[in-house]
Amino acid sequence: MKKITVIGAGNVGATCANVIAHKDLAREVVLVDVKEGVAEGKALDIWQTSSINYFNTRVVGTTNDYLKTKGSGVIVITAGIPRKPGMSRDDLIKTNAKIVKEATEKAIKYSPDAIIIVVSNPLDVMTYAAFQAARKSANKVFGMAGILDTGRYRAFIAEALNVSPKDIHALLLGGHGDTMVPLPRYTSINGIPITELLGKEEIDKIVERTRKGGGELVNLMGTSAWYAPGAAAAQMVEAIVDDQNRIFPVCANLNGEYGLKDIYIGVPVKLSANGIEEIVELNLNEEEKKMMNESANSVKKVMKVLDDMKLFED
Ligand code: NAI
Ligand code: 2OP
Repeated sequence: MKKITVIGAGNVGATCANVIAHKDLAREVVLVDVKEGVAEGKALDIWQTSSINYFNTRVVGTTNDYLKTKGSGVIVITAGIPRKPGMSRDDLIKTNAKIVKEATEKAIKYSPDAIIIVVSNPLDVMTYAAFQAARKSANKVFGMAGILDTGRYRAFIAEALNVSPKDIHALLLGGHGDTMVPLPRYTSINGIPITELLGKEEIDKIVERTRKGGGELVNLMGTSAWYAPGAAAAQMVEAIVDDQNRIFPVCANLNGEYGLKDIYIGVPVKLSANGIEEIVELNLNEEEKKMMNESANSVKKVMKVLDDMKLFED
């Protein structure tokens, strides 16, 4: 791909740009931030690892000059404030909705054909905000959370079983919050169902730790995570750039799937150069359906806060 833009050169954005460059996913990565010099500095620092880490991707930074992002194939939006201890992701909405709207509008002006991946929190509702701001087809605007959340889930399972995380395959549904729905029924260790290797109590503990996985890191560091979020967003970029048809849990716009409509929420999708090729609908049992609906209800509450801000009325 010719160009990829990452908006927000903070912890997650810079990490994401770094992984994209290491994987040589584009000829150029443009980092954008509002803080004078930050994007330029971080881009220069990453670019200066190119001869050490053997990549060609040129990494450049800009303070709010979107002209430099012109012609991007993928735009990753990480701009916005992260949470501090005691805050939920939903506490961020008032600040981040305006930032995501502005960033989307500016970026799309110069790259109307770009696929947009949202990372800013509260994720599901910020993805919905970017969708409204971009005025693009929903299969080109989606959010990253499920790869991160299953990344945490898989890391905890790998520890519990003392096996390679590479062998763990897992799915997860729902919003990026404490109501997310990890799916032990769809979790296996190279095909061996997790239920054959771990007892219910151990699985329940892992599911609970996964749900609170973001908060665990906020409490440890005073701000939210970035290595796994940045890598997860870059994995989505890779699936698009290399047209991989990967099946990932992604925050997508539902139009009747899972009995839900007009909502962005995490579901398995097939990801390719066209963006979301299809939403994969699983046959959920009653308990899973109930949890998915509860998660959707909590996303809808935050959507209402966004709607009440009346940012998209014109
Ligand atoms: P950070 O504070 O390190 O970086 C955010 C950057 O955005 C700052 O450099 C800031 O100057 C910049 N920014 C603010 N307004 C901007 C604008 N209008 N245009 C361009 N840049 C702007 O925060 P961090 O840790 O990188 O997190 C970024 C966002 O990602 C937060 O909202 C956080 O909650 C979210 N997040 C989401 C995850 C997910 O799974 N979806 C995981 C981790 C973080
Ligand atoms: C995370 O899950 C806070 O969404 C961020 O780490």
